[in-house]
Amino acid sequence: MILVFLAAAFSLVKGAVGVPATSDTTLWFEQPGVNFTTSILLGNGRLGANYYGGVTSDTLGLNEDSIWSGSPYDPAPANCSTNLPMARELDFLNTVCLGTPAEQGTFQPAGALNLTFPQGQSEVTNYRRQLDLTTAVATMSYTQDGVTFTREVFVSHPAQVVVVRLSASEAGKLTFNASFSTIMMNPAFSVSGTTLVLAAGSYPAVSPIPAGLKYEARLQLQADGGSVDSVQNGANSLLAVENADTVTLFVAIASSYVYYNDISGNPTSKNIATLDAIGSAPDYDKYDCGGLPTDVRAATFQNTFDPGFVALNLNWARYLLISSSLDCAQPANLQGIWNEQKNPEWNSKFTININLEMNYWGAEVGNLADLVEPVVRLIEDVSVTGANMAQVMYNASATATGTGGGPGDGAPWMVSNRSVQVRTVALGMRALFLNRLNHFLLNCVSHQAELSEPFA
Ligand SMILES: *[C@@H]1O[C@H](CO)[C@@H](O)[C@H](O)[C@H]1NC(C)=O
Ligand SMILES: *[C@@H]1O[C@H](CO)[C@@H](O)[C@H](O)[C@H]1NC(C)=O
Ligand SMILES: *[C@@H]1O[C@H](CO)[C@@H](O)[C@H](O)[C@H]1NC(C)=O
Ligand SMILES: *[C@@H]1O[C@H](CO)[C@@H](O)[C@H](O)[C@H]1NC(C)=O
Ligand SMILES: *[C@@H]1O[C@H](CO)[C@@H](O)[C@H](O)[C@H]1NC(C)=O
Ligand SMILES: *[C@@H]1O[C@H](CO)[C@@H](O)[C@H](O)[C@H]1NC(C)=O
Repeated sequence: MILVFLAAAFSLVKGAVGVPATSDTTLWFEQPGVNFTTSILLGNGRLGANYYGGVTSDTLGLNEDSIWSGSPYDPAPANCSTNLPMARELDFLNTVCLGTPAEQGTFQPAGALNLTFPQGQSEVTNYRRQLDLTTAVATMSYTQDGVTFTREVFVSHPAQVVVVRLSASEAGKLTFNASFSTIMMNPAFSVSGTTLVLAAGSYPAVSPIPAGLKYEARLQLQADGGSVDSVQNGANSLLAVENADTVTLFVAIASSYVYYNDISGNPTSKNIATLDAIGSAPDYDKYDCGGLPTDVRAATFQNTFDPGFVALNLNWARYLLISSSLDCAQPANLQGIWNEQKNPEWNSKFTININLEMNYWGAEVGNLADLVEPVVRLIEDVSVTGANMAQVMYNASATATGTGGGPGDGAPWMVSNRSVQVRTVALGMRALFLNRLNHFLLNCVSHQAELSEPFA
């Protein structure tokens, strides 16, 4: 009952997970992350966060898995099928059967949560930044001016929010500003009371596919002690906390994505519902799941007998798949669910000539078979749009796909450069997946109708 185990692990209840943190299950560092690859990755399947842990300037990169460039479209070129004999003859060289446009869309970031703190008086000591794979909680702590400061970060699965909790060993010591930033299109920032909001849109995909997807990140701050001031100042809008004892930040992120051909959703109402469900007096514990630094171990691994590091890597791989594929989220893309760039390497998309498969190679042997579900659902979507493509392009009653694409940039976009590695998927393949789908359907209630229809 993997799902039961995962539900327990991700209910983030302190002490609910019986596995003690060890050197096989903890990544830790003696310095903040300096770039994307040295930040700590967290996720709940739909929301991703990458945490830097800077002392005076701290950042949390934010992702939501439906934020892709562009808007729904159908790339199948109508005159392909009339040229089919030529396409077969010329194989890779036929340009008539390229998708329109030939390039694909891109997974894009939501933005970042920035926290800025005053410089203290004395030196920072005892700095430690860690990720406990058994609780999926990142913890950063340090001592300065006789006070130990702690920041805990995790992405709650039941509450569907990114949570940051700041505390100090003495009362009244927390003073900082919280703000959003983004490189995305048409951002609008607003702040009121203890709520900070970023609304923006993703960029157009390759011409002529226009922008369309909208999204919102909404932060709700709860402070014990001290004061909270809201400062409305355009992109510099912020919440200013002074002399608090403990502070908890809840960040909800949602987009207008509903389905691959529907981006009419309302991110604001989704976020408000998400934050309302937490309640006005959230019980933090309800959402708290409980050698050598990892970079040093990695650097010395080649010349050191450190079998525990292999175990850590396996645990890390399982952690990454859980964090990027839990429940009915989009599948893990080339970067999982983490991306800070508008134009990431290889579009941070699904590339199905091997990479998407590689992401899931470890799923079944790693006792995470349920996490294959998002891939099965993607295949299901593509089998529908691919049937259209097979008909339009190849005059064939089958389904087909190219090598890559995205979901919000959806399954219809899945096929692009058709001169490369076009494969037709036999109907038998759909039957094979049907068995798996039936197994997973229970967990994806909202998609039952869509999923069962094409196989009827
Ligand atoms: C990130 O920082 C680490 C540590 O300084 C460095 O080794 C690595 O090359 C950097 N990665 C990138 C992509 O810049
Ligand atoms: C196919 O249609 C496209 C778009 O209408 C057109 O630009 C192209 O010339 C056509 N190609 C052939 C071979 O008919
Ligand atoms: C399609 O893919 C081929 C092979 O990778 C490449 O040479 C060609 O430039 C691509 N065409 C477009 C329009 O992207
Ligand atoms: C917020 O974080 C982003 C991402 O690291 C960074 O580019 C930006 O400069 C930061 N903004 C502030 C005000 O610190
Ligand atoms: C917080 O923001 C205010 C502007 O409202 C600024 O004066 C102050 O220096 C900021 N403090 C920190 C620690 O960034
Ligand atoms: C499509 O296939 C059907 C049945 O095989 C055939 O009769 C028809 O001529 C084909 N159409 C084109 C445009 O090739």
